[in-house]
Amino acid sequence: MRVIIASDHGGFELKRLVRDHLRGKGFQVDDLGPEEAVSCDYPPFARDVCEKVLEDGEALGVLVCGTGLGMSMSANRVHGIRAALCHNEFSARMARAHNNANVLCLGERVLGPGIALDILEAFLGTEFEGGRHAKRIDLIDALAETGETA
Ligand code: RB5
Repeated sequence: MRVIIASDHGGFELKRLVRDHLRGKGFQVDDLGPEEAVSCDYPPFARDVCEKVLEDGEALGVLVCGTGLGMSMSANRVHGIRAALCHNEFSARMARAHNNANVLCLGERVLGPGIALDILEAFLGTEFEGGRHAKRIDLIDALAETGETA
């Protein structure tokens, strides 16, 4: 599986941990930066990862900032991206199983490294269940386009 990752300075160390952990397990990991923990803005990194995830069609993204909030807000503005900010394994599993999330957002200042890696494993190790959930996923995009209320 290909995993595309990026962070800002607030998520830099956890991004490196995620990258090294996944490479150690044989994943193809594209690290879109930054290369150093210097102060930077998260929205362009979120956009770059989201574009590559959509281009690939099968890859999943991981975005890390201090809280995960800015990354998730930015990523969810990209049409076709379903970014899930997760603080526990259950949410990570459900984000894939029910919501077919294609990007995981993590907060380095919120999570310890062990919990963060457990969340990552749960996210990458869970498949979308489809079925009744597929229609709901389609409605997210359909309603976002029309601006209609349900
Ligand atoms: C950077 O200080 C911090 O604001 C950023 O990493 C993130 O938490 C924003 O949502």
